Amino acid sequence: MKLALGSDHGGFHLKEHLKTYLQAKGIEVLDCGTHSEDSCDYPDISKAVCDEIAKGTVTQAIIICGTGLGVAIAANKCKGIRAVTCGDAFSVRMSREHNDANVLCLGERVIGKGLAELLVDEWLKTEFAGGRHQRRVDKIMELEQ
Ligand code: RB5
Repeated sequence: MKLALGSDHGGFHLKEHLKTYLQAKGIEVLDCGTHSEDSCDYPDISKAVCDEIAKGTVTQAIIICGTGLGVAIAANKCKGIRAVTCGDAFSVRMSREHNDANVLCLGERVIGKGLAELLVDEWLKTEFAGGRHQRRVDKIMELEQ
């Protein structure tokens, strides 16, 4: 499995932590930046990550900023993206099962490393349920037209 990973400066340390965590699980990580604590603009990171999904390099991604909010707002402006900000495992599971979310957004200033790992694990193991949810996801994607 391959995942794209990105953060602004507000999520840099959690991105680095999760990169190691994912790689230790045998998951290939495409690091879309940022690569330092220097201030940068989160919409640029969301775009870089979502471009990889649009190209088909990866099907899923994790983006981190201070709150997980800005990166999600920006990502959801990109075609084909269903980004969610989650701070609990139930929301993560439902976002995959019901919404077929393809981008998980996390807030480094909101959650700790342990919870972030748990949320990522829940994300990785949960499949889209399809069925009636497919119709609803299709309707979400029609809103892009
Ligand atoms: C950067 O200070 C901060 O605004 C950003 O990381 C994010 O939380 C925005 O939503």
